Amino acid sequence: MRAKIIGTGSCLPPKIVTNDDLAKTVETSDEWIRARTGIQERRVSDEATATSDLAIVAAEKALAKAKMPAGELDLIIVGTTSPDTLFPSVACIVQDKLQAHKAAAFDVSAACSGFNFALTVAASFIETGTYKNILVIGADTLTKYLDWTDRGTCILFGDGAGAVVLTRSNDDSGILASWLKAEGSLGRYLVMPGGGSRDPEEKHGRFIKMDGKEVFKFAVRVLEESVGEVLKLAQLELKDIDLLIPHQANSRIVDHVTKKIGLPKEKVYVNLQKYGNTSAASIPIALDEALADGKIKKGDLIVLSGFGAGLTAGANVIKWGV
Ligand code: COA
Repeated sequence: MRAKIIGTGSCLPPKIVTNDDLAKTVETSDEWIRARTGIQERRVSDEATATSDLAIVAAEKALAKAKMPAGELDLIIVGTTSPDTLFPSVACIVQDKLQAHKAAAFDVSAACSGFNFALTVAASFIETGTYKNILVIGADTLTKYLDWTDRGTCILFGDGAGAVVLTRSNDDSGILASWLKAEGSLGRYLVMPGGGSRDPEEKHGRFIKMDGKEVFKFAVRVLEESVGEVLKLAQLELKDIDLLIPHQANSRIVDHVTKKIGLPKEKVYVNLQKYGNTSAASIPIALDEALADGKIKKGDLIVLSGFGAGLTAGANVIKWGV
């Protein structure tokens, strides 16, 4: 039994912050940010907006596209590392707001790989027959955890949410294979030190701390590895892929890897210039936009590949079925 995506949705906060806006407060420039990352602007949520607010809108759109009432959901999984509160989880808040009374709900913490991890868990529940209808969301508001004086991090991130509705496939379409990985020994390169049980009073700050060069090296290594490994699991080759949707972190990472493995530019979806790195939301937002742009048709083979804090990485191969 396979799991199949039957609806997608996304939500971005309206406020746009351009590179020129950032250059007013930190020593940087539009030229530098574009050249080193490909990012031109990002969305930043206001004080009143938390991760669940974006997640709920994305979820409602995905359910509407799937023509599935929330009451039919068996499970809600949210990939996030910026929950509204440590508990309840974002998934429980979404369950309540959607009135998905039947659904169990939990969050998955794998940072920017969160959507791949959540999707893989959801697919397994469907493949084993445990559940039939599952809502998977990737949502983050990492701009709330940025040190706006640190030009090494504040230029990279944006806020957003993306959602997909999964159900049992009745044909050969659906999620063909999934691959997940963690390298906890490299965790120190991308850290949110404060706010957890190690530092509940946030003495070490509640800001993202990153060694950009080390994360870059990891990202290029695992993006290549994840695509190769997940294709092997699905018994497919690179030439079979119609579209790669990589985590939207940095166009230099994507360009470097796709050039190295020999995947033509037109088979790679990139929208990070508009949104920056939206963490767990980046892949489902890109998937939703690629569909809206007509870049995916029935029968296409798509690879979703993410990497992020942990350090973690994950990939899924999907035969598109709707
Ligand atoms: N504007 C202008 N100059 C900047 C800058 C900015 N925003 N950030 C850094 N610099 C400067 C540095 O201070 C350094 O100056 P120096 O040579 O005088 O010391 C120079 O630019 C080069 O810095 P470096 O850190 O080597 O740049 P880089 O090419 O590694 O790019 C990142 C920095 C953060 C863009 C890059 O490392 C990166 O994208 N890493 C991956 C991060 C990521 O994707 N994280 C999320 C993963 S999920």
